[in-house]
Amino acid sequence: MADAGWFSVAQCFKVYVLFLVVSLSQCQTLSTACIEVKKAYAAKGFDENEVPLKAVSGEELTICPRTETCCTRDMEDKLTSLSRKEYVRQLEESFKLLKTTFASRTKKFDDFFVQLIDKAQLDLHEMFLQTYGLLYQQNAAIFTKLFTDLRHYYKGKDMNLSEVMESFFSKLLQRVFELVNSGYVFTSDYLGCVTDKMNDLKPFGEVPIKLSTQVRKAFIAARTFVQGLSIGKDVINSVFE
Ligand SMILES: *[C@@H]1O[C@H](CO)[C@@H](O)[C@H](O)[C@H]1NC(C)=O
Repeated sequence: MADAGWFSVAQCFKVYVLFLVVSLSQCQTLSTACIEVKKAYAAKGFDENEVPLKAVSGEELTICPRTETCCTRDMEDKLTSLSRKEYVRQLEESFKLLKTTFASRTKKFDDFFVQLIDKAQLDLHEMFLQTYGLLYQQNAAIFTKLFTDLRHYYKGKDMNLSEVMESFFSKLLQRVFELVNSGYVFTSDYLGCVTDKMNDLKPFGEVPIKLSTQVRKAFIAARTFVQGLSIGKDVINSVFE
C-alpha cells in the first residue's frame, strides 16, 4: 500500500518534470516565433505576454537550455514554483489516502478483536449458566474479572498475562474447593495453601497451562498488531505536520 503510494507520486513527479523539460526544449526548435511556448505557458495558468516574442539568449538560465530560447529566468522561476506546489499537493493527497486507509484498517481490526472478546465472554457465560446454573451465577464475578483484565491488557495496560490467568485459575480452584467441601469453613490461609499446591495437584489437568499459552499468544499478537498500526498512523500524520 505504502509502496504503491510512493511509487505513483514519484512517477507523477517524473512525468511532470519530463513534460516541463520537453515543453521548454521546444523553445530550441522554434527558432523565431515562440507561439507554441506561449500556448503551453498560458495552459499552465500564466500570462503568455511573459514569453518573449522571439527566441532570446538563455545564458543566465538554469533549467531551460542555455542557447537561443523562448524561456526567461522569470518563467523558469514561476514554472519551478508551480511544479513544486503540484508535487507537494499530489504527495499530500497520497498521504491523505494512506492516512485514512491506516486509520480504517486499524479500526476494523480493533472492532473485530473487541467483538471476539465479547462473544467469547457471552458464549462462556451462556454455557456455564446452562451447565451450572445458580452455582455459576454466584461465582460469575471470577469470570467477569478475567475478561475485564484481558480487555485492559488488549487496550495497552501494563499487565502480566501469565499472572492474570494464574490468578483466575487459583480463584476458581478456591471456589470449587469450597463448594465441594461445603460442609466446612476454610480460612483464607488454608485456601492460600490449597492454591499453592495447585501446581502439584493439577486439579484442572493441563487446561490452565494450555489455555494460558493460547490466550497469551492471541492477546500479545493482537495487541502488538494494533499498536503497530497505530504507530504507522502517527508516523504518517507527523510527516505532514
Ligand atoms: C509474568 O509472570 C510470570 C509468573 O509470575 C513470570 O514467570 C514471568 O517472568 C512474568 N513475565 C514478565 C514479562 O514479567
